[in-house]
Amino acid sequence: MKILNIDHIQIAIPKGSEIEAKKFYCEILGLKEIPKPEILAKRGGFWLANENFCLHVGAEENFKPSTKMHVAFLVQNLEETKEDFLTKGFQVKEDFSLQGVKRFYVYDTFGNRLEFIQNTQGFSQQKVEFQFRVEEIGEKDKTEISEFFKNAWGSDKVVSRGKLHSYKNLEGFFVKENRKLIGIANYQIENGEMELVSLYCLIKKRGIGTALVEKVIGKAKQKNCKRLLAIVTNDNLKAMRFYQKLGFEICALHKNAVEESRKLKSKIPLTGADKILIKHEIEFELKF
Ligand SMILES: CC(C)(COP(=O)(O)OP(=O)(O)OC[C@H]1O[C@@H](n2cnc3c(N)ncnc32)[C@H](O)[C@@H]1OP(=O)(O)O)[C@@H](O)C(=O)NCCC(=O)NCCS
Repeated sequence: MKILNIDHIQIAIPKGSEIEAKKFYCEILGLKEIPKPEILAKRGGFWLANENFCLHVGAEENFKPSTKMHVAFLVQNLEETKEDFLTKGFQVKEDFSLQGVKRFYVYDTFGNRLEFIQNTQGFSQQKVEFQFRVEEIGEKDKTEISEFFKNAWGSDKVVSRGKLHSYKNLEGFFVKENRKLIGIANYQIENGEMELVSLYCLIKKRGIGTALVEKVIGKAKQKNCKRLLAIVTNDNLKAMRFYQKLGFEICALHKNAVEESRKLKSKIPLTGADKILIKHEIEFELKF
């Protein structure tokens, strides 16, 4: 079993108190009501959301307020939020028990405890320590890597800058967890330049991508390469952010380059992330 994230949280209110509850959750907290499917709407209650989470408010016959179990909301400015509650007549119970974490509790109209926590100090924002080891690809690993991409993307080939590469021939680094590949970076060197031909992490936001790129950078320097370059397709905004945060700079735009790539690898999809048409290649570089 692997739990990915929390999908939504449900809190309870007394049956028939939806109007009062909306005054608190929509008017005071500023959450937006989203449509509840008709089949469920009959049961009462309502659904709320903002750009980051969903909160379901369920109506309960024998309602008892949750005084221990609670939702914790991250807020942009804790002091302002506190003042806001105080001016609206709510009691605020501050909690200083944890050094470096500013937070307080407020009880909703029905006595449910809610926590408010300063953005950047939230428990979900604290980085989870994740232990892994980056290894260099050896001859014995290349077949496994090539099989990995065949299973994941339906092909053991990758196209970059108009060239078709086979994972069986590419050098690079990998990370494994329980003997399964979870991150791979492949490079090739040509004319004194290193190209990061492919970078893929199965488990994201745990530092694996950064660790792999750092190893590739180390190798480029060791091989006296003038620069390290990486190609990102126009749909891949996450990768553009990722490379720039690592110090890479945009150095070229190859318009309609993906059309040419498709002639070499027909499996390249027409659309990518967020259904954006995949058409162009953006070249990022790190100069040494
Ligand atoms: C782009 C990609 C390689 C990034 O890999 P990644 O392993 O998620 O990258 P990292 O974990 O090193 O960094 C990503 C973020 O996680 C954060 N992070 C790292 N370790 C963390 C941890 N233990 N807990 C919480 N966050 C963590 C980093 O600070 C970074 O945050 P930021 O975006 O706010 O700067 C990955 O998303 C991927 O495989 N994408 C699909 C293929 C692709 O696009 N490849 C690149 C183009 S070819």
